Amino acid sequence: MSNNNLHIRDLDPNDIMWIKQNTPSGISQNQFLKNIISSAREEEFRYSLFSKPIVPSYLYGKLPFKFIDLFAGIGGFRCALTSVGGKCVFSSEWDKYANITYKAWYGDNDVNTEDIRTIDAKRIIPDHDILCAGFPCQPFSIAGVSKKKSLGRKHGFEDEEQGNLFEKIMDIVDAKRPPILFLENVKNLKSHDKGNTWRRIKLEIEKRNYILFSQVIDARNWVPQHRERIFIVCFDRKTFCKKQPVNFEFPNPQNNEQILLKNILETLPDEKYMLSDKLWQYLKDYAAKHKAKGNGFGFGLNTRNDVSRTMSARYYKDGAEILIHQDGWKNPRRLTPREAMFLMGFQNRYAEFFGHNNGFPQVVSDTQAYKQFGNSVVPLVVEEIAKNIVEIMVHHLLDENTGRLLVR
Ligand SMILES: C[S@@+](CC[C@H](N)C(=O)[O-])C[C@H]1O[C@@H](n2cnc3c(N)ncnc32)[C@H](O)[C@@H]1O
Repeated sequence: MSNNNLHIRDLDPNDIMWIKQNTPSGISQNQFLKNIISSAREEEFRYSLFSKPIVPSYLYGKLPFKFIDLFAGIGGFRCALTSVGGKCVFSSEWDKYANITYKAWYGDNDVNTEDIRTIDAKRIIPDHDILCAGFPCQPFSIAGVSKKKSLGRKHGFEDEEQGNLFEKIMDIVDAKRPPILFLENVKNLKSHDKGNTWRRIKLEIEKRNYILFSQVIDARNWVPQHRERIFIVCFDRKTFCKKQPVNFEFPNPQNNEQILLKNILETLPDEKYMLSDKLWQYLKDYAAKHKAKGNGFGFGLNTRNDVSRTMSARYYKDGAEILIHQDGWKNPRRLTPREAMFLMGFQNRYAEFFGHNNGFPQVVSDTQAYKQFGNSVVPLVVEEIAKNIVEIMVHHLLDENTGRLLVR
């Protein structure tokens, strides 16, 4: 080492190859390494950049961006955004058990556990490039709406408890002006209240000068589960539309190989997951009763070659929506929590970023684990969308000389 120079000998050939492959076009390898070192120092990047295998596919430092994880649950957004090079700078989640999982999975002890409606965004939330939020869907979901109607309660934005959470997101947008918003909700959001809910969401976002893109995407292209969710991606016009329009596109995964349940099922699950004779009889009687009335409520019995229905947060109750025929067992069984994790796309490769060598561990009861998976977003879908967001950031905002984003 001399003055300001550092010469490194005996580098592993794989590391040299990695540097060659990952240096963004337009900057030198020397500059790229300097960026990585200063990112590590400035950002106190928690996961050692040089220890393997905790290396996101797009390394933080190649395109350093920060995101916040609101309504974080078990961190579907967190896995996905980390894997494309983002650093999470704030997480909010009030559920005690979701927090136990989130802390164990991501090693994060700083989750804000308050009711998000009570926090002072300007003071508490750090600056960030992407605001991520899969805001609670019960006020808009079909099941949530009919339950609320039957109890004579208000739904959607009129839901006193949860309806105003979207407004809280808008408060945070006003306080922090993140350049990008990345939101997720149930498909029904667009048709709820004859389209009025969706019109209001669009209006609120657009009047704040964001350009909005939305698409309903079925996760079955990535996991063996039908799970249609609406994804909303918004770009601040002031930051992005200065020189040219934003040509954002959602992923088009039609060519993905179809993943089936057999790809995620365990060969020897514990027998405790087999339905009792009493529960199986009850589910069959219930389905027959509804069939006689002409409606299709009932259980979903799957073979290994199927794609399942949507897993809901109530899966823990009886597992009815996704039952598995298990050879050699007299009754069908429900998914094990580990299978539920893979059905939701929480792959081992994400777990490795955070130092777990054998997948994410189960640190709560089966009941809580099923609830958490039924509530979460599929990180594989979020990751594919996030890659396209990164493309836009690179195209519009990357400083070619430093490899850094121009917005912060
Ligand atoms: C639909 S889930 C989002 C799940 C998340 N996207 C994931 O991947 O796991 C909504 C989450 O928001 C949390 N939540 C609801 N209301 C909240 C509030 N007022 N303050 C903080 N968190 C809240 C719930 O506990 C729940 O975990």
